[in-house]
Amino acid sequence: MRFRVNGLDYDLNPEADRLLVDLLREGFGLTGTKRGCEDGSCGACTVLVEGEPRHACLTLARRVSGKEITTIEGVSPGRLSHLQRSLVDSGGLQCGFCAPGMILTAVALLRRGKPTRDEIREAISGNFCRCTGYAKIIEAIERAAEEGPTP
Ligand code: FES
Ligand code: FES
Repeated sequence: MRFRVNGLDYDLNPEADRLLVDLLREGFGLTGTKRGCEDGSCGACTVLVEGEPRHACLTLARRVSGKEITTIEGVSPGRLSHLQRSLVDSGGLQCGFCAPGMILTAVALLRRGKPTRDEIREAISGNFCRCTGYAKIIEAIERAAEEGPTP
């Protein structure tokens, strides 16, 4: 089976019950995708599949072979995107555990156009952050939206 992750092709034949989060972390070494609740409630494992946010902890790897998968490692590789910079500058990052999932959710949202504050709140409502409260994260996403399309 062929997996296309962050623009690279990986050939692998995962077990039928292998989860995408495990394939990414253990099979491909892409440990930016976090394993949190493992039941779809925290958003830490969020990746993009064909541009849409998806819980990697609830996704069988085989189901997404041949689809375009983006993990945090594939967002603006080698530099910070303006969304990432905005999160750092605003204090919207502390321990960082939620950040990969939060950023990928925001990337998908920002690619659809400039969101309202309510749309941002709604979009990230499935991404839990235990550290920051959400105000600074929302501000950072708003600021990034002002700066234009996000990778
Ligand atoms: Fe997937 Fe929490 S680890 S939603
Ligand atoms: Fe720690 Fe969000 S920064 S969980």
